Amino acid sequence: MVSPNPPESPPATSKGICDDDVGYTAPMPPPKPELDRLLRAAAEVRRNAYAPYSGFRVGAAVLAGGRVFAACNVENSSFPLGVCAERNAVAMAVAAGEQRIDAVAVVGGGARPAAPCGGCRQVLAEFAPPEAPVLYATATGVPVATTIGALLPSAFGPADLKVAEQGSTGSPEAPSPGKRRSAARARASRTSGR
Ligand code: THU
Repeated sequence: MVSPNPPESPPATSKGICDDDVGYTAPMPPPKPELDRLLRAAAEVRRNAYAPYSGFRVGAAVLAGGRVFAACNVENSSFPLGVCAERNAVAMAVAAGEQRIDAVAVVGGGARPAAPCGGCRQVLAEFAPPEAPVLYATATGVPVATTIGALLPSAFGPADLKVAEQGSTGSPEAPSPGKRRSAARARASRTSGR
């Protein structure tokens, strides 16, 4: 499910807090209405969860490029092939051309809200900066608010591969979540010759 930004909403990645001389601009955290919208999208898409084996239904929504990408968990009779809601939502954003995630909401769990699993934390950290907010909640309860960096401290990421490459092949640098757009632009201009 993809919801377009309502026209009155400000851009999700409004510039602001830490421009530096290498061109990275950390975004302001998305405003509360944006996060509420994300939570609602996660709760809504959770209704479509395909979870006949675990009975544990999850909805996740990511905010990327000002748009909301929401998906549910999809299990399979061959159990290991089931995919978490968060990973499906990330795949939707990337397939739509968005490679930077500004916020995440997850709705699941019964008695208590369930935080994203370890694998999903790693996948989210590939595209979201450490300061990106993560809200997780049950369908009816108060959301828990945290960040990608708090959920996955000392994360392995693109920068680690970059160090490995420098030590061996010297191949092009791996992008970081904060620089992904300019890396994509650089690739595009290399291809187009501009
Ligand atoms: N699940 C998610 O969708 N996200 C998580 O972060 C944790 C677990 C799903 C996978 C499986 O379909 C069900 O919840 C039970 O593990």
